Amino acid sequence: MDVPFVSFTAQNERVAEESKAVFARFFDSQYYVLGNMTKQFEEDYARFNQVKHAVGISNGLDALHLALKVLGVGPGDEVIVPSNTYIATNLAVEMAGATPVFAEPDMRTYNISPAQIRNVISPKTKAIMPVHLYGQACEMDEIMSIAKEASLFVVEDNAQGHAASFNGKQTGSFGHVNATSFYPTKNVGAYGEAGAITTDSDEWAQLSKVWRNYGSEKRYHNMYKGYNNRIDELQAGLLSVKLKYIAEWTADRKRIGDRYLRNLAGTDGLVLPYTHPEASHVYHLFVVRCDRRDELQSWLDQNGVKTVIHYPIPPHLQEAYKSSGFKKGDYPMAEMLAETSLSLPLFPGISDDQVDHVSDLVQKFFKP
Ligand SMILES: Cc1ncc(COP(=O)(O)O)c(C=O)c1O
Repeated sequence: MDVPFVSFTAQNERVAEESKAVFARFFDSQYYVLGNMTKQFEEDYARFNQVKHAVGISNGLDALHLALKVLGVGPGDEVIVPSNTYIATNLAVEMAGATPVFAEPDMRTYNISPAQIRNVISPKTKAIMPVHLYGQACEMDEIMSIAKEASLFVVEDNAQGHAASFNGKQTGSFGHVNATSFYPTKNVGAYGEAGAITTDSDEWAQLSKVWRNYGSEKRYHNMYKGYNNRIDELQAGLLSVKLKYIAEWTADRKRIGDRYLRNLAGTDGLVLPYTHPEASHVYHLFVVRCDRRDELQSWLDQNGVKTVIHYPIPPHLQEAYKSSGFKKGDYPMAEMLAETSLSLPLFPGISDDQVDHVSDLVQKFFKP
């Protein structure tokens, strides 16, 4: 039995008719940029994410960058980011002209550790960017109180956390200005590039709209040297359709995650995902860990099961950061995660048989 790492078949089938109707409406409208579909999606997503405003942006990286920009984060400022994030988080800080400062994760949840955040706050720190990694909400209550004590902004990177929550409050609704991605494989996935900013502030929402559109509020009048970071009108329309099904697909992800957890419980040598008691985990990724990770990946591959490593090299050891002078050993937790993590197939539509087959193969690897 072959098991792909991800498949869109089940989701696509569910939305096919409605999506084709959206395309026809879009095509006939002759209004292709920042039209009614964008407006509607922004209302839909704000309601979904339980915030006052959502602003459609070109992609997740641009949304993170603009979130920092509207908060006035720039050269001379430091922004605390997890040492084990996808590189987009710290690249957004660099794009804003500020300096990313890495804080190590909690080794049970893999999310940025509040204690480590406290350790790296300096007089230059302007913001904290927690990432709800793999779909588990960060410890947001503590992060928000650290930020309040130190007068810092919080920008949540909610690219992997759609519909996750901490103490019942949704990720993407805690920080001052937050950002998310609708990259196709995300839990809310577009059919191309898209992202959004979420905030409860009227002022920051309006500023985001200005910055994304060449720094202009009134046509051909430019208040700032802005960007073209507009969301694609068609993607916005298609995302509004998908949003109707996210609750169902999130429940699917949780059910599949729980099935893996039951199947694999007690497997000697394998570390399973752990969820903080106050957090919810929406299993954007189901990440297991073991010392013989590369062998496990090859074994699964030989047996037709595709897996992915998220992420094989932590940001500080990337070629792109060579000139920053980081070296191996600087962030040992992030490095250990990079050496031992493996993501198993999990997507809405994967069958119980497929999950059980992957689980059997994993168990056979450890106990041939
Ligand atoms: C944690 C995280 N932040 C930011 C991004 C950037 O999103 P995008 O690819 O839409 O620019 C991604 C995904 O790619 C991500 O996983």
